[in-house]
Amino acid sequence: METKIAIINAENKDMLIREAADVIKKGGIVAFPTETVYGLGADALNAEAVEKIFIAKGRPQDNPLIIHIADISELKKYTKNVPEIAERIMDKFWPGPLTIILEKNDCIPNVTSANLNTVGVRMPSNEIARKLIRKSGTPIAAPSANISGRPSPTDVERCVEDLNGKVDYILGEKKCDVGVESTIIDCSVYPPCILRPGGVTLEDLREIDEKIYIDPVILDKPKEDMKPKAPGMKYRHYAPKAKVIIIRGNLQKTIEKINDLMVHYIIEGKNVGVMATDETKSEYNSENVISVGKRSNLGTVAQNLFETLRAFDDKGVDIILCESFEESGVGVAVMNRLKKSAGFNIIDI
Ligand code: TXA
Ligand code: MG
Repeated sequence: METKIAIINAENKDMLIREAADVIKKGGIVAFPTETVYGLGADALNAEAVEKIFIAKGRPQDNPLIIHIADISELKKYTKNVPEIAERIMDKFWPGPLTIILEKNDCIPNVTSANLNTVGVRMPSNEIARKLIRKSGTPIAAPSANISGRPSPTDVERCVEDLNGKVDYILGEKKCDVGVESTIIDCSVYPPCILRPGGVTLEDLREIDEKIYIDPVILDKPKEDMKPKAPGMKYRHYAPKAKVIIIRGNLQKTIEKINDLMVHYIIEGKNVGVMATDETKSEYNSENVISVGKRSNLGTVAQNLFETLRAFDDKGVDIILCESFEESGVGVAVMNRLKKSAGFNIIDI
């Protein structure tokens, strides 16, 4: 398949959005920017178009897609029995990096929702994304625009790397601001439950209702009989080609441990990368050290996390030794993605 790659600038913006919207209207698939990660979109109401997303990504059919809308007023067309708490949550956090799970209306095809009777809805804050939805005249179903299992793309080059030749259109803009996918909150139950941590934090959501909690299954390695409530969270995910190992504990001891392990693996003939931070990168004596961001501002770590994992693959490392982060605020989302990319391979010190 021929993929058109179009990069937005001030002059061509409206023209390219119109062109991409035409592709969506005709049942094609388009990679596009959002504030979290790039998405791969299709008309959510067109089963055949949605099917193409699963094929392009190699995504398991039992993993439902979320739909993106441009205005809160559209919500009631696609969902029913919306509880009052969901309305308060969307009033406060939309547009933004938050997906709300609600009972779905019959117009949402089963491929989109993977036969569930609920659907995830998100209103992105990225202006290009919202204009694309409006111009398409339909809600856009969109998972992250990566090949299934790989880290989500946070810039257009990574979309091209994964999807060139597999999709109709790639609409490129700037690097994503948030860098990890949206927070998912299930409001089809009470109290609402966070199924995936993201840019909107538990602390933020508890300002609406203190009973809101995080699905405990997603915080640690799932036991065999435990299944996360978001189907996608059960798959190995966010994984670079290299093996990822997290070292967790006191920061000074972490640095010592990583330096020891680096020597150990280099003697074994391995090519070792270290995922450090601005504050710690000078502590490692290796050319394969990449800073993922600032410890003093975990938002920067979230923003760079997936790109950093992919950059280690570009360097061809076999093993990535990672520092860990405090699990509060957006640190919960950072550690959730990092643990999954490591397949829960954690050394506690
Ligand atoms: O930030 C985001 O949410 C990005 C951008 C493109 O908007 N999208 C995204 O989609 O991350 P995806 O498909 O990569 O992740 C959606 C997650 C999956 O784990 C899926 O299983 C879960 O949401 N999900 C979707 N519908 C659900 C439902 N009805 N109930 C429970 N989980 C659901
Ligand atoms: Mg994804």
